[in-house]
Parts: sequence; structure tokens; C-alpha cells
Amino acid sequence: MIADDIPLVDLRAQHATIAVEVEDAVHQAMERCDFILGRDVEAFETEFAAYCEAGYAVGVDSGLSALELGLRALGVGPGDEVITPANSFIASSSAISFAGATPVWVDCDPETYCIDVDAARRAVTRRTRAIMAVHLYGHPADMDAVIALAADHGLKVVEDACQAHGARFNGRRAGSLGDFAAFSFYPAKNLGAYGDAGMLTTNDPELAASLRMMRNYGQRHKYEHVTMAWNRRLDTIQAAVLRVKLRHLDAWNGARRRHAMLYSRLLQGCGLTLPRTRPGVEHVFHQYVVQAPAREKLVAELAERGVATGMHYPVPIHLQEAYRDRGICSGSFPVTEKAALRLVSLPMYPELRPDQVERVAEEIRSLVAG
Ligand SMILES: Cc1ncc(COP(=O)(O)O)c(C=O)c1O
Repeated sequence: MIADDIPLVDLRAQHATIAVEVEDAVHQAMERCDFILGRDVEAFETEFAAYCEAGYAVGVDSGLSALELGLRALGVGPGDEVITPANSFIASSSAISFAGATPVWVDCDPETYCIDVDAARRAVTRRTRAIMAVHLYGHPADMDAVIALAADHGLKVVEDACQAHGARFNGRRAGSLGDFAAFSFYPAKNLGAYGDAGMLTTNDPELAASLRMMRNYGQRHKYEHVTMAWNRRLDTIQAAVLRVKLRHLDAWNGARRRHAMLYSRLLQGCGLTLPRTRPGVEHVFHQYVVQAPAREKLVAELAERGVATGMHYPVPIHLQEAYRDRGICSGSFPVTEKAALRLVSLPMYPELRPDQVERVAEEIRSLVAG
């Protein structure tokens, strides 16, 4: 990377702004040596639950673990179907498969790229146990419609909030809207650890209590194991880092929203499809995603000019090799499949400077005009 190249995400720029705070927090945890389920894990769970306006938070080792353990704790397993969008990161679906259930994919809304709830309604069968909405790119799914659908059929509601730390839907925080929500703290997320980490949030005290056991060998008290379970604990050092970063999250999300507004203003009318935010939604722009008709050319030319881009996601889940045995052919989910060929994620991170946003927009305008 040369000096004025613009990356998709810049973790070093963020670390530089909080290095002293993080080093102090990690140092204190090291001094205490409470590495497993230590003080910072408990404190971070309390702080993150409060931040999400949820009753309880349970720290785990990744977003995938959060989704899988949450589904298992709800009793979802073999013979059950869980409706989920084909347009997401594969972990949304692999969590369902790991729980022993079957992901039933549906198409996405062409404006928000989140689950198409009418399609979800058509996909309900007598085996359906839950609907998993994904707040993709930081834009919450239409949770009123999801909750209404679930109520009509007695289904559980799961929020995959792995990309939506701090987002709101009709005033309510992502993470407080379903039976449980899963968060990922993968380093590049809006709230990212310095390694892998994840969290479940829920308003159900019994679910939270089972999750605490499930992440820790099914242990109720020391050496008293009531279920066969896993080691999926959140690491104390990661919790120490995340406590520091949580204090900055609202400011960082605000910066992301400002960058998004500037991108949208500068790219208006240039021939790309720009992201839309539904009324009542507070988007946190984990990604700023546009659709470009000649995507590969645009991405290659931007790379030549020092602007990095991403694709979220170039292959929809139902067409992944890992799910080949399901035999779902292309053409099944046209909105998702068309988007997969055209989506481009532009550089987006809080420390991005307005002049860098301007440069990205200028490069794009000159390339799509030419
Ligand atoms: C939508 C979505 N779901 C699930 C996950 C899985 O999270 P993790 O990578 O922490 O397992 C991610 C992130 O990677 C994600 O973006």
C-alpha cells in the first residue's frame, strides 16, 4: 500500500486513536491474571446489554458461536427449519446447520438487501421453528414485519446483528428485538476485538442462564455439569479491549453515517445504485454498498488508482459449494443473485477523512462517466 492509497478498512488508524486506553486495560487484566471469565467479561456483558437496551448479554468466542448456541438454547435442532436470507455471510446459515436444523433460504429486499418478509411468509412450513433476520451492512431488517410473521405462526425470532452494533429500528436497538440476537466482534466490525469474539443478547433470563452453561462445558457450579456442552467462552483480554472500544462506538457510528451521507451526496446521479435507509431506521453503515452494472471493471480500475473495494457477497449462500448437496440452482433468488454480480463496498471506517471520501467519489465519477 502506498501512502495515499485508501483501504477498505484501516484497523491501524483506529488503534492509533485508542492505543493508550487499550494498553492500560489489557495491562490491568494481565496483572489480575483472571484470563477465563474474568472481571472484564462480566463488566462488558453488563455494559453491552445496557448499550443494546437488552436484559442480558452472554459473551462467547465468535458471532458464529453466538448464533449456533442461541439456536440450540431455543431448542432448534434436527427436523426443524429456520428461514433466513440467501444474501448474507455464510455463518448465518452454517449456525443453523451446526444446530442440526435446515436453513431455508429466501430472497432479499431490493432496497435494503435484508430479508424479504413476504418471501419468508411463503416459505413457512409445519417444520419452521424460527426466522433469522440479518441486519445486513448495518441496516436493520424490517423487524415489525418479521415479528408479526413469527407471531402468526408461533416462530422464534433471531436477529443476526453481527454487522449492526448500535443500529436502531423504530427507536429500538438491534439486539433487543427478538428472542435473542448474535453479535460478532471480528476485528473489522463496527465494534471489533483484537481477535475473535462474540456476544448474545436476550431479554429472557432463562435463555441467558442456559447460554452461560452452554458456553462453559454445561457447568452450573464448579464441576457440576448439567448438559453436554462446549467451551465457547469470551476471552477476558478481548473483553478488556471491547470495554474500551464500546465507549467510542456511538462516535464511530456517527462518523460512519457522515461518510455515508457524503458518499451519497457526491455520487448522486452518477449511474450507480446507492444505499437507501428506510424511515425509522438508524443505519450504522458497517458497509457502504453500491451497485455497479460493470462491477469488475470498476473494481479493477479503482484498485489501479489506489482505492480498495470489497464485495459483500459475490456468491450467495445457496450457491456456495458447501451447500451443493442441497441442490438449489441459480435463478432461485433473483434479487440476491443479481446483487451478487453488481455489489461493491466502498472504503468505510470511522477514521476515513472527508477528503478521502471525496477522492473515492471523484475517481468513481470519472470512471463511470468514461
Ligand atoms: C452477518 C454475519 N453473521 C455472522 C458472522 C459471524 O461472525 P464471526 O466471524 O465472529 O464468527 C458475521 C461476521 O463475520 C456476519 O457478518
